[in-house]
Amino acid sequence: MTKITWKPGTMLAPVPPALISCGTMEKPNVMTAAWTGIICSDPTLVYVSIRPSRFSNTLIRETGEFVINVPTIALAKAVDLCGVKSGRNTDKFKLAHITPEPCSVVSAPQIKESPVSLECKVKNITSYGTHDMFLAEVVAVNVDDAYINSAQALDLSKAGLLAYAHGFYYTLGKKIGKFGWSVEKKSTKRKRAARLSQQKSATLTSVRKHGKIKKESGKK
Ligand SMILES: Cc1cc2nc3c(=O)[nH]c(=O)nc-3n(C[C@H](O)[C@H](O)[C@H](O)COP(=O)(O)O)c2cc1C
Repeated sequence: MTKITWKPGTMLAPVPPALISCGTMEKPNVMTAAWTGIICSDPTLVYVSIRPSRFSNTLIRETGEFVINVPTIALAKAVDLCGVKSGRNTDKFKLAHITPEPCSVVSAPQIKESPVSLECKVKNITSYGTHDMFLAEVVAVNVDDAYINSAQALDLSKAGLLAYAHGFYYTLGKKIGKFGWSVEKKSTKRKRAARLSQQKSATLTSVRKHGKIKKESGKK
């Protein structure tokens, strides 16, 4: 394997092709942005880089607010559509069959069908060249309760998260580890494996029991 050197380019991948909703509930707009990410944990700062020509750029400058909606496979077509049509002359919510929903803090709408929506208030706008970077503080996060597990943690493993890499869309595959697993002690790993197998057999027992009950009630 030999690495060849190319000229500088935006080759970082994967990135989230996020749906950026903006405007108001009365006049909502949404665009796709893959140039978005996290800057700081506390305060929670994020950014989205938007070309000056985009209608959303004008709207976000006017209101100082936007929402980052996490994309999923179910939203894949909407993601592409909102990235090729402008809201200047189209209602993209209607066109893409997605639903604007009020947020808790900002006036911009969130997208009902997205599992996680980050409400953002712009702190600073910097023009870098092709794109203007909107640096913003996350003022609230709205999470679909279908993805909150029994430990009250957010588990998006079944959400079908969407990724974008060099012009193509992908879904995220199998969960292969958790934060810090590469340095975990063997004993901790063994304990976790035992706990998981206990959980599995408990689920199996409950499924078998449930199946039997169902059969019995079916006879009646
Ligand atoms: C996958 C994907 C990623 C995109 N990422 C960005 C981006 O990060 N910044 C940007 O300015 N435009 C991006 N675009 C293009 C805009 O979404 C597109 O121009 C859109 O029509 C703008 O909508 P608006 O005029 O309603 O704001 C992307 C498009 C796609 C399909």
